[in-house]
Amino acid sequence: TQTFSIASIPGDGIGGEVVAAGLRVLDTVAKLSGGAVDFDVTEFPWSSEYYLENGHYIPEGGLDQLQKHDAIYFGAVGSSDVADHTSLWGLRLAITQPFDQWANIRPVTFLPGVESPLRKADDTDLDWIVVRENSEGEYAGMGGRNLSGRGPGNEVALQTSLHTEKGCERIIRFAFDLARTRTTKKVSCVTKSNAQQFGMVLWDEVFARVAKDYPEVETESVLVDAMSAKFVLHPEDLSVVVASNLHADILSDLGSALAGSLGLAASANLNPERRFPSMFEPVHGSAPDIAGQGVSNPIGAISSASLMLDQFGLTAEAEEVRQAVSNVTEAGILPRDLGGDSTTVEVTEAIVTQLEAIHAQSTPFPN
Ligand code: NAD
Ligand code: IPM
Ligand code: MN
Repeated sequence: TQTFSIASIPGDGIGGEVVAAGLRVLDTVAKLSGGAVDFDVTEFPWSSEYYLENGHYIPEGGLDQLQKHDAIYFGAVGSSDVADHTSLWGLRLAITQPFDQWANIRPVTFLPGVESPLRKADDTDLDWIVVRENSEGEYAGMGGRNLSGRGPGNEVALQTSLHTEKGCERIIRFAFDLARTRTTKKVSCVTKSNAQQFGMVLWDEVFARVAKDYPEVETESVLVDAMSAKFVLHPEDLSVVVASNLHADILSDLGSALAGSLGLAASANLNPERRFPSMFEPVHGSAPDIAGQGVSNPIGAISSASLMLDQFGLTAEAEEVRQAVSNVTEAGILPRDLGGDSTTVEVTEAIVTQLEAIHAQSTPFPN
């Protein structure tokens, strides 16, 4: 048996519901493998409630505990009782940064049976991946407040972006390596180098230099404002879209909404060198407006679990999970955000049933 150890952090709001859904699917994958694969899951209760009780999200030694696992499976963090910058820097960014999960991939996947605001989605096989620089840029956490020193009404705040040549180069190379594996071998580099003449121009220059090493990959450079329009008007031109931390954060929400809902979008925070575990999580947040109702869309979290399977080398299993999800949406079993009335558990169980059916066909003899 190949055993993979997973640290699960459900976090806040709908985080618990969607992580439970993803783990249910992983359980099914293990069961269907007939003992070939097993997942050993340890849950960490680090949430905003835990923070209010203990004064911290991650206790002392917590990162060492996480590091012992093959992967981290994360729900969401964010609560009305804690400032958002406190919860995010206390938990999510407190993992992605020290574990140097510098590459964040966020596929935009169009599923059958899901209505998209893009008319083209009906007749086009749309599918692109946002590659997000995940370690620096606008999330460097550098700056300060009250810099004028001149009292009320005169506050000055500085929020600085940090772009290093090495940081740009590694994410841009990552994007090219990914593009090379895809049917459409193309990388679109997103910047705002017309207005931001230091960091963004560095991005453009590194992009042009790295591109020379990948003559088989088509390239384009697009400003972020124009790219947001292109997502809507010409998504068929996209394959791999690489951008800075904040630009890619925004573009990935736009992509998921165009595919039908934020609840669909998957994400992998990768440490490609594998010195640290990678972290898999849906793109969405804790969705306090629907938390506790059992109606959240589990597909983003389940698809994130499929990205984890890919990283474990279980690509056939990952593909089966994606096929099961697609069969379920095609059959019209949809959660509320996609216009259906199925609960989180109903959608998850439908995916489990499909997975069993697909697996029965793909391996006629038990392995
Ligand atoms: P959000 O993603 O939580 O919610 C935005 C909207 O999308 C809401 O209407 C919500 O109901 C809907 N939605 C999101 N996920 C859904 C799902 N799976 N199924 C159905 N509907 C879904 O974003 P927000 O409202 O900006 O943020 C809420 C909190 O989450 C904040 O505290 C924010 O800081 C935090 N947040 C955390 C993460 C993270 O942990 N990775 C990501 C984004 C936001
Ligand atoms: C995401 C989220 C986080 C991010 C926030 C909540 C800090 O929006 O995972 O996309 O921007 O990284
Ligand atoms: Mn985001």
